[in-house]
Amino acid sequence: MIKIEKKIIYFDNSATSFPKPEEVYKASEKAMRIYGANPGRGGHRMAVEASKEIFKVREKVANLFNIKDPLRIAFTQNSTYALNFAIKSCINKKGHVITTALEHNSSLRPLFSKRDSGEIELELIYPEKNGEISIEKIIESIKEDTIAVVVNHISNVTGTIVDIEKIGKVTREKGVMLIVDASQSAGYLDIDVERDGIDILCFTGHKSLYGLQGSGGIYIREGIDFIPIIEGGTGSFSKLERQPLVMPEGLEAGTLNTLAIVSLGVGIEFIQKVGIENIREHEDRLKQRFLIELKKIPEIEVYGSDNRGPVVTLNIKGIDSGDLAAYLDEEYGILVRGGLHCAPKIHEAIGNGENGGVRFSFGFFNTDEEVDYAIKALKEIVTENSN
Ligand code: ALA
Repeated sequence: MIKIEKKIIYFDNSATSFPKPEEVYKASEKAMRIYGANPGRGGHRMAVEASKEIFKVREKVANLFNIKDPLRIAFTQNSTYALNFAIKSCINKKGHVITTALEHNSSLRPLFSKRDSGEIELELIYPEKNGEISIEKIIESIKEDTIAVVVNHISNVTGTIVDIEKIGKVTREKGVMLIVDASQSAGYLDIDVERDGIDILCFTGHKSLYGLQGSGGIYIREGIDFIPIIEGGTGSFSKLERQPLVMPEGLEAGTLNTLAIVSLGVGIEFIQKVGIENIREHEDRLKQRFLIELKKIPEIEVYGSDNRGPVVTLNIKGIDSGDLAAYLDEEYGILVRGGLHCAPKIHEAIGNGENGGVRFSFGFFNTDEEVDYAIKALKEIVTENSN
């Protein structure tokens, strides 16, 4: 038994990255102490400083995703809010909408809600058994009245990477809005809203952008109208009876989470300092190391294809995924996510709609040794289970 005490091995970076870079911890404390006023509310120096810091982060996000106008980015508390804005605020006429079974509930639920109220006709594209989505199928499904394609850049279950640039070429040509859920990809894949033809980009700050929980945002291309779904104070246009229809205020009702936003800015600086390609190379190496060894264990079923981000979901035959995740935590200090991962359609498509799967998701701070340790633990569990 290789049971360890106290040590924790964190393989749940798809849920949230941990640890954060040291700079993020330091800057967060500093932000709490220095930018403690309410940004955009009042003209005193502390409020102005907080506003300035937030604007700097808008510029950093714009730079990361090649967004020309930082004011087209609204901060939200996570990608769920961003996707709700994208779907409920920006899909604001009747028509046909295409999405995929790779989506998370943060896209699926608002889409189903719009479908159920008769606002849209929704078409769901299913992947192959290995999680691969046919881009051709998406493109062929575009009709005269298609108004939007909503697509997950990387699945949080299989890690499947979707070629958004290929979709974007066609949607741009046909005047169809492309909405991308970058929750799992921002900070791991290079995203360029111009090159990729993205009209709306939804991202979270606390996963591979290394910010704190409570940070995230939405980019909306110039010219896309939106209907605000949350109305309130914006610190500007105060005499208007209704929410101003300008970005970013239109989607930023209420006090912003200065602390989380500042942390997101520091997370982005970290990524740019290390280099996104170096981060990806490291995480890909860990993923490959893990996959190569897993393939040698016949009792383990691995989901997904070779085209994947740093996410590996698996099951050991005969063991409930929730039980396996709990056992890995209790006996080995390995922290992973078991069960269903808020993306029911992809679980169904890959054949674990009931039991779900045990997801190992790697981050920049994981090491080869941790991967080897996880393999040893899994081998040991397989042996125990067959005795
Ligand atoms: N969506 C996050 C996950 O996949 C929370 O775990």
